[in-house]
Amino acid sequence: MSSPRTIRVDLAGRAYDIAIGPGLIDRAGELARPLLAAPRVTIVSDDTVAPLYGARLAASFAKAGVESRTVTVPAGESSKDFASFARLMNELLDLRPDRKTTLVALGGGVVGDLTGFAAAVLLRGVDFIQVPTTLLAQVDSSVGGKTGINTRHGKNLVGAFYQPRLVLADTTVLDSLPRRELLAGYAEVAKYGLIDDPEFFAWCEKNGEAVLAGDAAARTYAIEQSCLSKARIVAADERETTDLRALLNLGHTFGHALEAETGFGGTLLHGEAVGAGMAMAFDLSARLGLCPPEDAERVRRHLGAVGLPVRLRTIGGDNSRTWDAAKLIEHMRGDKKAEGGKLTFVLARGIGRSYVTRDVDEAGLRDLLDDAIAA
Ligand SMILES: NC(=O)c1ccc[n+]([C@@H]2O[C@H](COP(=O)([O-])OP(=O)(O)OC[C@H]3O[C@@H](n4cnc5c(N)ncnc54)[C@H](O)[C@@H]3O)[C@@H](O)[C@H]2O)c1
Ligand SMILES: [Zn+2]
Repeated sequence: MSSPRTIRVDLAGRAYDIAIGPGLIDRAGELARPLLAAPRVTIVSDDTVAPLYGARLAASFAKAGVESRTVTVPAGESSKDFASFARLMNELLDLRPDRKTTLVALGGGVVGDLTGFAAAVLLRGVDFIQVPTTLLAQVDSSVGGKTGINTRHGKNLVGAFYQPRLVLADTTVLDSLPRRELLAGYAEVAKYGLIDDPEFFAWCEKNGEAVLAGDAAARTYAIEQSCLSKARIVAADERETTDLRALLNLGHTFGHALEAETGFGGTLLHGEAVGAGMAMAFDLSARLGLCPPEDAERVRRHLGAVGLPVRLRTIGGDNSRTWDAAKLIEHMRGDKKAEGGKLTFVLARGIGRSYVTRDVDEAGLRDLLDDAIAA
Protein backbone atom coordinates (compact mmCIF):
# COMPACT_ATOMS: atom_id res chain seq x y z
CA MET A 1 0.00 0.00 0.00
CA SER A 2 1.28 3.49 -0.77
CA SER A 3 2.69 5.44 2.13
CA PRO A 4 0.79 8.48 3.34
CA ARG A 5 2.25 11.98 3.12
CA THR A 6 3.95 12.69 6.42
CA ILE A 7 4.78 15.95 8.13
CA ARG A 8 7.00 16.11 11.18
CA VAL A 9 6.04 18.62 13.86
CA ASP A 10 9.37 19.52 15.31
CA LEU A 11 9.06 20.10 19.04
CA ALA A 12 11.99 19.22 21.27
CA GLY A 13 11.19 15.99 23.11
CA ARG A 14 7.62 15.92 21.82
CA ALA A 15 8.03 15.79 18.05
CA TYR A 16 5.33 13.84 16.25
CA ASP A 17 4.09 13.00 12.77
CA ILE A 18 0.98 14.07 10.92
CA ALA A 19 0.09 11.47 8.28
CA ILE A 20 -2.26 12.55 5.51
CA GLY A 21 -3.95 10.42 2.88
CA PRO A 22 -6.90 8.27 1.89
CA GLY A 23 -7.87 5.25 3.98
CA LEU A 24 -5.74 5.99 7.04
CA ILE A 25 -8.54 5.01 9.42
CA ASP A 26 -8.09 1.43 8.25
CA ARG A 27 -4.35 1.63 8.85
CA ALA A 28 -4.51 3.38 12.23
CA GLY A 29 -3.64 0.25 14.22
CA GLU A 30 -0.57 -0.51 12.14
CA LEU A 31 0.63 3.12 12.15
CA ALA A 32 -0.08 3.77 15.83
CA ARG A 33 1.09 0.43 17.29
CA PRO A 34 4.83 1.30 17.48
CA LEU A 35 4.00 4.44 19.46
CA LEU A 36 1.73 2.87 22.06
CA ALA A 37 3.06 2.37 25.58
CA ALA A 38 0.78 -0.69 25.83
CA PRO A 39 -1.56 -2.34 23.30
CA ARG A 40 -4.73 -0.69 24.63
CA VAL A 41 -6.54 2.44 23.58
CA THR A 42 -9.76 4.21 24.41
CA ILE A 43 -11.39 5.85 21.42
CA VAL A 44 -13.34 9.01 22.20
CA SER A 45 -15.79 10.07 19.51
CA ASP A 46 -19.12 11.82 19.09
CA ASP A 47 -22.48 10.28 18.29
CA THR A 48 -22.36 11.40 14.65
CA VAL A 49 -18.84 10.24 13.86
CA ALA A 50 -18.74 7.03 15.93
CA PRO A 51 -21.45 5.26 13.87
CA LEU A 52 -19.69 6.32 10.65
CA TYR A 53 -16.09 5.39 11.43
CA GLY A 54 -15.87 3.90 14.93
CA ALA A 55 -16.13 0.27 13.87
CA ARG A 56 -13.50 0.63 11.14
CA LEU A 57 -11.09 2.31 13.53
CA ALA A 58 -11.65 -0.35 16.20
CA ALA A 59 -11.18 -3.12 13.60
CA SER A 60 -7.93 -1.58 12.48
CA PHE A 61 -6.65 -1.57 16.08
CA ALA A 62 -7.81 -5.15 16.58
CA LYS A 63 -5.95 -6.23 13.45
CA ALA A 64 -2.77 -4.75 14.94
CA GLY A 65 -3.33 -6.60 18.23
CA VAL A 66 -4.49 -3.48 20.08
CA GLU A 67 -7.47 -3.72 22.42
CA SER A 68 -9.86 -0.79 22.09
CA ARG A 69 -12.96 0.54 23.84
CA THR A 70 -15.05 3.46 22.76
CA VAL A 71 -16.63 6.31 24.69
CA THR A 72 -19.08 8.55 22.85
CA VAL A 73 -20.14 12.11 23.62
CA PRO A 74 -23.01 14.05 21.99
CA ALA A 75 -22.00 15.84 18.77
CA GLY A 76 -21.61 19.59 19.11
CA GLU A 77 -19.85 22.32 21.04
CA SER A 78 -21.81 21.66 24.24
CA SER A 79 -19.68 18.55 24.79
CA LYS A 80 -16.85 20.97 25.59
CA ASP A 81 -18.58 22.38 28.66
CA PHE A 82 -17.50 21.62 32.23
CA ALA A 83 -20.34 19.26 33.06
CA SER A 84 -19.78 17.19 29.91
CA PHE A 85 -16.06 17.10 30.61
CA ALA A 86 -16.69 15.77 34.12
CA ARG A 87 -18.98 13.09 32.69
CA LEU A 88 -16.36 12.06 30.17
CA MET A 89 -13.63 11.84 32.82
CA ASN A 90 -15.81 9.59 34.96
CA GLU A 91 -16.66 7.38 31.99
CA LEU A 92 -12.99 7.08 31.14
CA LEU A 93 -12.16 6.20 34.75
CA ASP A 94 -14.97 3.61 34.79
CA LEU A 95 -12.90 1.74 32.19
CA ARG A 96 -10.02 1.53 34.69
CA PRO A 97 -7.28 2.98 32.50
CA ASP A 98 -3.65 2.97 33.54
CA ARG A 99 -0.90 5.38 32.62
CA LYS A 100 -0.05 3.29 29.56
CA THR A 101 -3.54 3.65 28.07
CA THR A 102 -3.66 5.89 25.00
CA LEU A 103 -6.70 8.01 24.18
CA VAL A 104 -7.65 8.30 20.51
CA ALA A 105 -9.74 11.31 19.45
CA LEU A 106 -11.97 10.36 16.51
CA GLY A 107 -13.93 13.40 15.39
CA GLY A 108 -13.82 17.11 14.69
CA GLY A 109 -12.29 19.88 16.73
CA VAL A 110 -14.75 19.41 19.57
CA VAL A 111 -13.71 15.81 20.14
CA GLY A 112 -10.04 16.68 19.58
CA ASP A 113 -9.97 19.57 22.06
CA LEU A 114 -11.93 17.62 24.65
CA THR A 115 -9.97 14.38 24.32
CA GLY A 116 -6.65 16.20 24.26
CA PHE A 117 -7.47 17.95 27.51
CA ALA A 118 -8.79 14.71 29.01
CA ALA A 119 -5.49 13.03 28.07
CA ALA A 120 -3.54 15.89 29.65
CA VAL A 121 -5.21 15.40 33.02
CA LEU A 122 -6.35 11.74 33.13
CA LEU A 123 -4.13 10.07 35.76
CA ARG A 124 -2.00 13.24 35.44
CA GLY A 125 -1.40 12.62 31.77
CA VAL A 126 -1.70 9.78 29.28
CA ASP A 127 -0.73 9.72 25.61
CA PHE A 128 -3.20 10.66 22.90
CA ILE A 129 -3.59 10.31 19.17
CA GLN A 130 -5.72 12.51 16.93
CA VAL A 131 -7.83 11.10 14.11
CA PRO A 132 -9.44 14.36 12.90
CA THR A 133 -12.55 13.93 10.75
CA THR A 134 -13.46 17.51 9.78
CA LEU A 135 -11.44 19.66 7.42
CA LEU A 136 -11.11 22.22 10.18
CA ALA A 137 -9.69 19.63 12.54
CA GLN A 138 -7.33 18.24 9.88
CA VAL A 139 -5.83 21.62 8.99
CA ASP A 140 -6.06 23.45 12.27
CA SER A 141 -7.28 22.10 15.59
CA SER A 142 -5.44 18.76 15.55
CA VAL A 143 -2.11 20.48 14.93
CA GLY A 144 -0.36 22.58 17.53
CA GLY A 145 -1.26 21.05 20.88
CA LYS A 146 -3.90 23.47 22.12
CA THR A 147 -6.52 21.49 24.01
CA GLY A 148 -9.31 22.69 26.23
CA ILE A 149 -12.91 23.19 27.18
CA ASN A 150 -15.39 26.05 27.54
CA THR A 151 -16.69 27.86 30.61
CA ARG A 152 -19.37 30.48 31.13
CA HIS A 153 -16.58 33.03 30.81
CA GLY A 154 -15.87 32.02 27.25
CA LYS A 155 -14.52 29.40 24.89
CA ASN A 156 -11.32 27.45 25.50
CA LEU A 157 -10.47 29.31 28.72
CA VAL A 158 -9.58 26.10 30.57
CA GLY A 159 -7.07 23.89 28.86
CA ALA A 160 -3.49 22.82 28.32
CA PHE A 161 -0.82 22.79 25.70
CA TYR A 162 -0.58 19.05 25.21
CA GLN A 163 0.85 17.47 22.07
CA PRO A 164 -0.47 14.25 20.53
CA ARG A 165 1.83 11.34 19.69
CA LEU A 166 0.45 11.08 16.18
CA VAL A 167 -2.15 12.70 13.92
CA LEU A 168 -3.87 10.64 11.21
CA ALA A 169 -5.77 12.76 8.69
CA ASP A 170 -7.79 10.40 6.49
CA THR A 171 -8.85 12.49 3.49
CA THR A 172 -11.73 10.19 2.52
CA VAL A 173 -13.69 10.74 5.74
CA LEU A 174 -14.37 14.27 4.51
CA ASP A 175 -16.76 12.76 1.94
CA SER A 176 -19.44 12.44 4.62
CA LEU A 177 -18.92 15.93 6.01
CA PRO A 178 -21.73 18.41 5.22
CA ARG A 179 -20.66 20.99 2.62
CA ARG A 180 -21.15 23.82 5.08
CA GLU A 181 -18.69 22.26 7.56
CA LEU A 182 -16.26 21.60 4.72
CA LEU A 183 -16.41 25.25 3.66
CA ALA A 184 -15.88 26.44 7.21
CA GLY A 185 -12.68 24.38 7.33
CA TYR A 186 -11.67 25.71 3.94
CA ALA A 187 -11.58 29.27 5.33
CA GLU A 188 -8.73 28.15 7.60
CA VAL A 189 -6.96 26.56 4.59
CA ALA A 190 -7.08 29.82 2.64
CA LYS A 191 -5.88 31.58 5.80
CA TYR A 192 -2.45 29.94 5.55
CA GLY A 193 -1.97 31.44 2.10
CA LEU A 194 -3.07 34.85 3.30
CA ILE A 195 -0.73 34.76 6.30
CA ASP A 196 2.58 34.22 4.55
CA ASP A 197 2.26 32.11 1.42
CA PRO A 198 0.96 34.07 -1.59
CA GLU A 199 1.66 31.14 -3.93
CA PHE A 200 -0.54 28.90 -1.85
CA PHE A 201 -3.33 31.48 -1.93
CA ALA A 202 -3.01 31.63 -5.72
CA TRP A 203 -3.21 27.82 -5.74
CA CYS A 204 -6.39 28.07 -3.64
CA GLU A 205 -7.91 30.50 -6.12
CA LYS A 206 -7.37 27.91 -8.87
CA ASN A 207 -8.09 24.73 -6.92
CA GLY A 208 -10.39 25.68 -4.04
CA GLU A 209 -13.43 24.30 -5.81
CA ALA A 210 -11.62 20.99 -6.47
CA VAL A 211 -10.73 20.72 -2.78
CA LEU A 212 -14.37 21.24 -1.85
CA ALA A 213 -15.68 18.92 -4.55
CA GLY A 214 -13.58 16.04 -3.23
CA ASP A 215 -10.67 15.85 -5.67
CA ALA A 216 -8.31 13.52 -3.79
CA ALA A 217 -5.02 15.06 -4.91
CA ALA A 218 -6.21 18.63 -4.32
CA ARG A 219 -7.48 17.72 -0.87
CA THR A 220 -4.29 16.03 0.16
CA TYR A 221 -2.22 18.96 -1.11
CA ALA A 222 -4.38 21.55 0.67
CA ILE A 223 -4.24 19.66 3.96
CA GLU A 224 -0.53 19.05 3.63
CA GLN A 225 0.31 22.69 2.91
CA SER A 226 -1.92 23.84 5.77
CA CYS A 227 -0.33 21.44 8.25
CA LEU A 228 3.15 22.43 7.04
CA SER A 229 2.35 26.09 7.64
CA LYS A 230 0.84 25.53 11.03
CA ALA A 231 3.58 23.09 12.09
CA ARG A 232 6.25 25.58 11.10
CA ILE A 233 4.64 28.38 13.08
CA VAL A 234 3.95 26.18 16.11
CA ALA A 235 7.48 24.77 16.14
CA ALA A 236 8.84 28.31 16.28
CA ASP A 237 6.38 29.59 18.89
CA GLU A 238 4.66 26.70 20.67
CA ARG A 239 3.08 28.72 23.46
CA GLU A 240 2.29 31.93 21.67
CA THR A 241 4.99 33.85 23.49
CA THR A 242 5.83 36.01 20.48
CA ASP A 243 3.59 37.44 17.79
CA LEU A 244 4.39 34.59 15.42
CA ARG A 245 1.75 32.11 16.55
CA ALA A 246 -0.68 35.04 16.79
CA LEU A 247 -0.56 35.29 12.98
CA LEU A 248 -2.74 32.19 12.98
CA ASN A 249 -5.47 34.49 14.30
CA LEU A 250 -5.81 36.30 10.99
CA GLY A 251 -9.51 37.13 10.66
CA HIS A 252 -10.18 35.94 14.19
CA THR A 253 -10.58 39.26 16.04
CA PHE A 254 -13.37 40.19 13.65
CA GLY A 255 -14.56 36.59 13.47
CA HIS A 256 -14.87 36.13 17.23
CA ALA A 257 -16.89 39.34 17.48
CA LEU A 258 -19.30 38.02 14.83
CA GLU A 259 -19.50 34.66 16.59
CA ALA A 260 -20.09 36.27 19.97
CA GLU A 261 -22.86 38.42 18.51
CA THR A 262 -24.56 35.40 16.95
CA GLY A 263 -24.24 33.39 20.15
CA PHE A 264 -21.56 30.82 19.11
CA GLY A 265 -24.30 28.58 17.74
CA GLY A 266 -25.23 27.16 14.38
CA THR A 267 -26.05 30.59 12.92
CA LEU A 268 -22.42 31.20 12.10
CA LEU A 269 -19.80 28.46 12.18
CA HIS A 270 -16.33 29.40 13.41
CA GLY A 271 -14.75 28.99 9.97
CA GLU A 272 -17.50 31.05 8.36
CA ALA A 273 -16.80 33.81 10.89
CA VAL A 274 -13.09 33.57 10.12
CA GLY A 275 -13.78 33.86 6.40
CA ALA A 276 -15.83 37.02 6.88
CA GLY A 277 -13.21 38.23 9.38
CA MET A 278 -10.34 37.77 6.93
CA ALA A 279 -12.19 39.75 4.29
CA MET A 280 -12.68 42.50 6.88
CA ALA A 281 -9.04 42.42 7.98
CA PHE A 282 -7.93 42.90 4.38
CA ASP A 283 -10.50 45.65 3.82
CA LEU A 284 -9.25 47.44 6.92
CA SER A 285 -5.66 47.02 5.74
CA ALA A 286 -6.57 48.50 2.37
CA ARG A 287 -8.39 51.44 3.97
CA LEU A 288 -5.44 52.18 6.17
CA GLY A 289 -3.31 52.33 3.04
CA LEU A 290 -1.29 49.30 4.10
CA CYS A 291 -2.41 46.86 1.46
CA PRO A 292 -3.25 47.30 -2.25
CA PRO A 293 -7.05 47.44 -2.66
CA GLU A 294 -6.74 44.78 -5.43
CA ASP A 295 -5.45 42.31 -2.83
CA ALA A 296 -8.38 42.96 -0.51
CA GLU A 297 -10.67 42.53 -3.50
CA ARG A 298 -9.04 39.16 -4.37
CA VAL A 299 -9.60 37.89 -0.84
CA ARG A 300 -13.25 38.88 -0.82
CA ARG A 301 -13.79 37.51 -4.33
CA HIS A 302 -12.24 34.09 -3.68
CA LEU A 303 -13.93 33.48 -0.33
CA GLY A 304 -17.25 34.61 -1.78
CA ALA A 305 -16.78 32.48 -4.92
CA VAL A 306 -16.40 29.23 -2.98
CA GLY A 307 -19.53 30.10 -1.03
CA LEU A 308 -18.36 31.57 2.27
CA PRO A 309 -20.63 34.33 3.62
CA VAL A 310 -18.46 37.42 3.27
CA ARG A 311 -21.28 39.97 3.40
CA LEU A 312 -22.46 40.58 6.95
CA ARG A 313 -26.07 41.09 6.01
CA THR A 314 -26.30 37.58 4.50
CA ILE A 315 -25.09 35.82 7.64
CA GLY A 316 -27.77 33.58 9.04
CA GLY A 317 -29.14 33.05 5.57
CA ASP A 318 -31.97 35.55 5.08
CA ASN A 319 -30.12 38.61 3.76
CA SER A 320 -31.53 40.89 6.44
CA ARG A 321 -29.31 40.55 9.48
CA THR A 322 -28.45 43.81 11.19
CA TRP A 323 -25.37 44.41 13.30
CA ASP A 324 -24.21 47.06 15.73
CA ALA A 325 -20.64 48.30 15.27
CA ALA A 326 -20.32 49.38 18.93
CA LYS A 327 -21.33 45.91 20.10
CA LEU A 328 -18.86 44.24 17.77
CA ILE A 329 -16.06 46.43 19.12
CA GLU A 330 -17.16 45.57 22.66
CA HIS A 331 -16.79 41.87 21.82
CA MET A 332 -13.34 42.50 20.36
CA ARG A 333 -12.26 44.06 23.65
CA GLY A 334 -13.51 41.03 25.56
CA ASP A 335 -11.51 38.66 23.35
CA LYS A 336 -8.95 36.72 25.38
CA LYS A 337 -6.30 37.85 22.91
CA ALA A 338 -6.94 41.51 23.77
CA GLU A 339 -4.05 42.43 26.03
CA GLY A 340 -4.99 44.95 28.71
CA GLY A 341 -8.02 46.06 26.68
CA LYS A 342 -5.89 46.80 23.59
CA LEU A 343 -7.35 45.34 20.44
CA THR A 344 -5.01 42.97 18.66
CA PHE A 345 -5.39 42.63 14.92
CA VAL A 346 -3.63 40.71 12.23
CA LEU A 347 -3.45 43.12 9.31
CA ALA A 348 -1.72 42.70 5.97
CA ARG A 349 0.57 44.58 3.62
CA GLY A 350 -0.72 42.33 0.87
CA ILE A 351 -1.66 38.71 0.24
CA GLY A 352 0.77 36.55 2.19
CA ARG A 353 2.16 39.54 4.07
CA SER A 354 0.32 39.54 7.37
CA TYR A 355 1.55 41.01 10.63
CA VAL A 356 0.29 41.57 14.16
CA THR A 357 -0.55 45.02 15.46
CA ARG A 358 -2.05 46.50 18.63
CA ASP A 359 -2.16 49.91 17.13
CA VAL A 360 -5.42 50.26 15.24
CA ASP A 361 -7.20 53.56 15.23
CA GLU A 362 -10.67 53.04 16.60
CA ALA A 363 -12.36 55.63 14.39
CA GLY A 364 -11.05 53.83 11.28
CA LEU A 365 -12.25 50.52 12.67
CA ARG A 366 -15.69 51.92 13.35
CA ASP A 367 -15.94 53.36 9.82
CA LEU A 368 -15.03 50.00 8.38
CA LEU A 369 -17.61 48.20 10.49
CA ASP A 370 -20.33 50.72 9.65
CA ASP A 371 -19.65 50.28 5.93
CA ALA A 372 -19.45 46.47 6.21
CA ILE A 373 -22.78 46.46 8.03
CA ALA A 374 -24.39 48.69 5.40
CA ALA A 375 -22.96 46.79 2.39
N1 LIG B 1 -7.15 23.36 19.39
C1 LIG B 1 -7.10 24.27 18.43
O1 LIG B 1 -6.05 24.76 18.07
C2 LIG B 1 -8.37 24.66 17.74
C3 LIG B 1 -8.31 25.39 16.55
C4 LIG B 1 -9.51 25.67 15.90
C5 LIG B 1 -10.71 25.25 16.43
N2 LIG B 1 -10.73 24.54 17.60
C6 LIG B 1 -11.99 24.04 18.17
O2 LIG B 1 -12.55 23.14 17.24
C7 LIG B 1 -13.96 23.10 17.46
C8 LIG B 1 -14.64 23.11 16.12
O3 LIG B 1 -14.25 21.99 15.39
P1 LIG B 1 -15.07 21.45 14.14
O4 LIG B 1 -15.36 22.56 13.24
O5 LIG B 1 -14.35 20.28 13.63
O6 LIG B 1 -16.48 21.08 14.79
P2 LIG B 1 -17.12 19.71 15.36
O7 LIG B 1 -16.12 18.88 16.03
O8 LIG B 1 -18.30 20.13 16.15
O9 LIG B 1 -17.60 18.99 14.02
C9 LIG B 1 -18.62 19.59 13.24
C10 LIG B 1 -19.78 18.62 13.00
O10 LIG B 1 -19.40 17.68 12.00
C11 LIG B 1 -19.65 16.35 12.47
N3 LIG B 1 -18.63 15.53 11.82
C12 LIG B 1 -17.32 15.44 12.12
N4 LIG B 1 -16.68 14.69 11.23
C13 LIG B 1 -17.59 14.27 10.35
C14 LIG B 1 -17.52 13.46 9.17
N5 LIG B 1 -16.36 13.00 8.72
N6 LIG B 1 -18.67 13.21 8.51
C15 LIG B 1 -19.85 13.74 8.95
N7 LIG B 1 -19.97 14.51 10.02
C16 LIG B 1 -18.84 14.77 10.72
C17 LIG B 1 -19.55 16.45 13.96
O11 LIG B 1 -20.26 15.41 14.58
C18 LIG B 1 -20.17 17.81 14.22
O12 LIG B 1 -21.56 17.70 14.25
C19 LIG B 1 -14.31 24.28 18.34
O13 LIG B 1 -14.62 23.81 19.62
C20 LIG B 1 -13.03 25.09 18.36
O14 LIG B 1 -12.85 25.78 19.59
C21 LIG B 1 -9.58 24.24 18.25
ZN1 LIG C 1 -9.91 29.41 13.70
